[in-house]
Amino acid sequence: MEQRELLLQFMNTLSPIKGVEYMAYWVVSVSIPLMIAYCLLLRKRFGDIDRIPGPFLARWTPFWLAYHVRLGQRYQAVHRLHEKYGVFARISPNHVSIADKDAIAIIYGHGSKALQKSAFYDAFVNETPSVFSTVGKEDHSRKRRLVAHAFSSQSLQHFTTFLENNMHSFVCQMDRICESSRSVNALLWFNYLSFDILSDLVFGEPIGMIKNASDIVTVQDVNGETFEEHAISIVDEREHLATIIGLHPSFNFLTRLIPDPFFIRAHKSSVALGNLARRQVLRRLQVPSTRVDILAKLIETHRSDTSSSSISAIIFLILTHPQVYKKLMDTLDSAIKSEEPTYEEVKDIPYLDATINEGYLFFPPGCQLNQLNKQSRLRYHATTAIGLHRVVPEGGITCCGVYFPPGTEISVPAWTIQRDPKIWTDPNVFRPERWLESADLKPFLLTFGKGSRACLGRNLAYMEMRIVIATVLTRYTLQLESDVLITKEGFMHKPLHLMAKFQRRQYH
Ligand code: HEM
Repeated sequence: MEQRELLLQFMNTLSPIKGVEYMAYWVVSVSIPLMIAYCLLLRKRFGDIDRIPGPFLARWTPFWLAYHVRLGQRYQAVHRLHEKYGVFARISPNHVSIADKDAIAIIYGHGSKALQKSAFYDAFVNETPSVFSTVGKEDHSRKRRLVAHAFSSQSLQHFTTFLENNMHSFVCQMDRICESSRSVNALLWFNYLSFDILSDLVFGEPIGMIKNASDIVTVQDVNGETFEEHAISIVDEREHLATIIGLHPSFNFLTRLIPDPFFIRAHKSSVALGNLARRQVLRRLQVPSTRVDILAKLIETHRSDTSSSSISAIIFLILTHPQVYKKLMDTLDSAIKSEEPTYEEVKDIPYLDATINEGYLFFPPGCQLNQLNKQSRLRYHATTAIGLHRVVPEGGITCCGVYFPPGTEISVPAWTIQRDPKIWTDPNVFRPERWLESADLKPFLLTFGKGSRACLGRNLAYMEMRIVIATVLTRYTLQLESDVLITKEGFMHKPLHLMAKFQRRQYH
């Protein structure tokens, strides 16, 4: 009893949240012993991978990985392990990270050879699993077949009108901002644009963020009640939370007990995201649309802000590398004749595509929530930086000479592979030319995943990137407020903001 009181007193000093002492008592007295028992069982079951090195906490518990995801810097922590241990690193009791290019085809293969996604992805399910979050192979193939045609290059030709229309709304707003000559958060505006484009494609109407210069949207709960939410932050927080709770079945419960403002907000965001999708689907049903319907399910994950995050990062990289900027501007100026480029004008500019690939590969200098010193500014980060979780099937597999028993989770750490000097010459240099010099690099760019679970929206994302980057650079000059981009990683690795002053460019 005395101990309990002491514990309660201690918890009271940690947080003023009402009722937290009660929750904390249960966390400590029930959940942690259960977790320890679970870890012991897990250790016994995955004893076969005991010889793979890793930090003590990671070998025994999922907390090591969860902690680094919560900080938004999982890829850096995993990369440091590979620097220390080499190709194989144990990042959780049953998860081995494999930093070897040969592992890519084995882990992220095609057809019957493809490894299944692990239970990690259950955390991304809203109400029913989407194409992205479906784990079972057959179920996934069926769902993917249903929507794949809508994402083919041919089908996406229909979408150029949506891209151009939303781009027009965007430049009208940016032209107005130029007149005020104040700095704006360009990332926010790219987010508005991406949300409007995706919502236009999926639901038959833009969500209206560009027009309203705001990400506040009306959502509708299960009881039909409507209220307002910030769409961008709910998508972002929900995704970050899922990347943590996917690491262990108890984390959904445990994170509700921890008085961390991030967890409290993120759990609310999960509910709000469901409400947002519901509202949009209802509106689409009320206003029948003749536009191609890509399925409302796609709103489920991070899909709208991945493109905008990449656009911000790539523009930042271009502007902070004067030689690349000059070469790209010469190329764009000779290819584009209109002040608002059409997709036709930007769809086939090799140096633009090379710059986009290089930007995907080398996400900009930045370090989770920290300012960088001059030296570390030369290190670049990838949009998809984590290793995508897959599970070893019955019978086990041998990967890069090591046997893994069934049920083990394995992944290839994207950021580490994209820094591997055995693959990339000068891995820390931002040099788009490498993509024009060699045709053999694409298999090692993991931004869109690989194999049978690779990104279905890849073509769409490229279309959006091309038109947005080309339009912004040819129509405006951008003056960045800082030469440091601060980023954080949830499932995707994203900048936090991109402050810049926009001015209309004198036309060629
Ligand atoms: C730059 C933008 C984007 C990036 C970097 C990106 C990245 C990825 C990655 C890495 C995966 C594989 C996930 C895994 O294996 O766990 C994925 C899957 C997926 N993406 Fe994207 N994505 C982008 C844009 C989009 C867009 C715009 C859409 C749709 C409109 C989309 C739809 C999907 C779908 C449906 C899947 C699941 C595919 C499957 O499991 O069969 N993505 N994406």
